[in-house]
This record gives sequence, structure tokens and C-alpha cells, in this order.
Amino acid sequence: MTDPVSRETAPTEPPRPPEVARGIFGDSLPHAVRYAELLADAGVVRGLIGPRETPRLWERHLLNCAVLADGIPDGAAVADVGSGAGLPGVVLALGRPDLAVTLVEPLQRRTEFLTEVVGALGLDRVEVVRARAEELHGVRFFGTVVSRAVAPLPRLLRWCLPLVAPGGQMLAMKGASAEEELSKAAATLRRLNAGPAEVVWFGQEILDPPTTAIRVAASVRRG
Ligand SMILES: C[S@@+](CC[C@H](N)C(=O)[O-])C[C@H]1O[C@@H](n2cnc3c(N)ncnc32)[C@H](O)[C@@H]1O
Repeated sequence: MTDPVSRETAPTEPPRPPEVARGIFGDSLPHAVRYAELLADAGVVRGLIGPRETPRLWERHLLNCAVLADGIPDGAAVADVGSGAGLPGVVLALGRPDLAVTLVEPLQRRTEFLTEVVGALGLDRVEVVRARAEELHGVRFFGTVVSRAVAPLPRLLRWCLPLVAPGGQMLAMKGASAEEELSKAAATLRRLNAGPAEVVWFGQEILDPPTTAIRVAASVRRG
């Protein structure tokens, strides 16, 4: 059967996976390689990822997202808010088949691509939901809510914390300014009754720089 995602012409080939990718993805490595090809091909053609990202797809995108898995408990229900072309949600699902992953994305062009990717990679524990995060408040809850490059922290907290189940966490991938963002969001964290918040790093042994994230524990619900 023709794979619908691969019909477009590839502008460039993605590089081969670095050796560490084998340890991270294990038996799923061929699927991770296929995902990199889909990003470099249909993802670029459809404007979901910049053509200049192709040569650095592994280090800056797949590996950078994959190491976040170290912060997610076994068997967790995970939401990726603002998933875009599937980062980090698709990568987490590939590296951690124990996770049930929901990709939350409002733009149809992107959810179409995500649905095709999920089908092409046979990710039967991944669900694509076309919605803004706020539309799921009070309707869906997840043990871990992840995000990457979606919004400044105060807005992200308002969108994501209401989706975190009691005892769960939010993990927002951020850059070098994570500490500063966290300290500036103190008032929002208080207003939302957020649990403890901290900056955490993942993949120090294989990535330079490592992945930086802000971890926020679920809101403390007052009875
Ligand atoms: C810059 S892209 C990042 C995509 C992906 N996470 C990545 O790192 O490549 C931000 C994404 O957030 C989505 N988005 C914007 N507002 C949103 C909202 N209220 N709820 C969920 N997603 C939203 C956009 O449609 C877009 O796909």
C-alpha cells in the first residue's frame, strides 16, 4: 500500500541516526528513522518544519525530545500540548511504548500530518486530538503534560496545569532562559495553586547542550 505521507518529493535527505539513537529507541529505531524521513520530506514540503532543520533533525529534534522520557513515569498517560509536527510526543511514543500519548494540536494542517505519521509508524497507543489545550479543561486529565516551543511560561501554565491529573506533572521544554522564565512566573504559579516547580536537565551524558525543562507539579486542589 502507498504510504500517504511519503508522496511528496523529499527536498533533502535527513542524516543517518547517530550511534546513541540505537540505545534510546532500541527496536523502534527503524520507526524513528522513518519519522525523521517524514519530517524531512512531507514535514518540510508542508511547511511544518524549516528546511534548515533537516541536517540537524537528530540532535536538535529527535534526541533532544527523546531524553525527556527520563522524567516520565512508567505507563503514564501523556499529553503533548501544541504538538506541531509531533515534537516531542511522537518521539516519546517511539522510545517509550509503555506510554499512552495524546497529541493536542489545533491546526488542521498539522493534525492531518500527525494522523498520517501515527498510521505510517503504527503507533497504536497515540491519539491525535484537534483542539486548543483550553478546550480540554475539565474534560481530559493526564499524568504528564509535555510541551516544546509553544508559549511563554505563564500562558503555558494556564493552558497545561488544568490538564494535569492529581499527583501528576507538567514538563515544559525550554531553552537557556528557563531559570529566568520560572522566576518571572511566580505570581501565575501562586494563582494556579501550582505544586513545586523547578528547572531540570535531561540527557547530559549524550547531548551538548542537554535538554532543559521546567517541571511543575500538579495544582494543589482546595476542597
Ligand atoms: C512553534 S510550534 C511548536 C511545535 C512543536 N511542539 C515543536 O516543538 O516543533 C507551536 C504549536 O503550538 C500550537 N498551539 C498554539 N496555541 C495552542 C493552544 N492554545 N493549545 C494547543 N496548541 C497550541 C500551534 O498550532 C503550533 O503547532
